[in-house]
Amino acid sequence: MTAPRIVTLVGGISQNSLNRKLYLALKDLVGSKAEFIFADIASLPFFSKDLENDPPDSVVEYKDQIRWANGILFVTPEYNRSIPGVLKNAIDWGTRPYPDNLWENKPVATIGASTGNTGTFGAQNHLRQILSYLNMYVLNQPEFYMNGSKAFDEDDKLIDKKTRDHLIKMWDAFEVLIQSHTSTSKNQLPHDVENSTWVQH
Ligand SMILES: Cc1cc2nc3c(=O)[nH]c(=O)nc-3n(C[C@H](O)[C@H](O)[C@H](O)COP(=O)(O)O)c2cc1C
Repeated sequence: MTAPRIVTLVGGISQNSLNRKLYLALKDLVGSKAEFIFADIASLPFFSKDLENDPPDSVVEYKDQIRWANGILFVTPEYNRSIPGVLKNAIDWGTRPYPDNLWENKPVATIGASTGNTGTFGAQNHLRQILSYLNMYVLNQPEFYMNGSKAFDEDDKLIDKKTRDHLIKMWDAFEVLIQSHTSTSKNQLPHDVENSTWVQH
């Protein structure tokens, strides 16, 4: 089994983002079983039809990363019972110029942490609706919602073993989903990834 190539979109772009910590915790648990690319969605301009046919380099690179991936991971905060605008903007860039939908047939998983007790249910619920519309293969179960307020220790490690175990369970199911759909996804390699400047952290 080859290691899946995962592009991760984290909707929290602040320095101490809980969702960034959650992503790093998952990446740590998965280890060398996958290749991860962290998509720099904060560097994308707001989508505009004026830019779509001659987009800036940040968009070109981002779209190459999506093409490269055979699995997409969304790690989303909840903003007013939905996803942050920065994440929606990144999703929209992947669908234009029409009809080039880069998300189509890609396996995708969603997880998230918020400071409320609904743990991003509202955000992920909205997100899954979008991902289904984009014709992605959405991992239905296990779901992963978390109140992240007290979830991490001073080294940003997940404190609770049950939470770590649940994250691994989610990953295992995602891996199976990826393996069963890889042949249908648009997983061509756009360039020499080993020598690229893509942020692999
Ligand atoms: C504009 C805004 C709206 C928010 N709305 C919600 C919400 O609907 N539900 C919730 O649980 N937390 C909400 N929060 C709190 C976030 O869960 C919290 O700020 C979280 O740490 C954001 O994720 P991050 O640390 O990865 O950036 C909101 C925060 C902001 C800034």
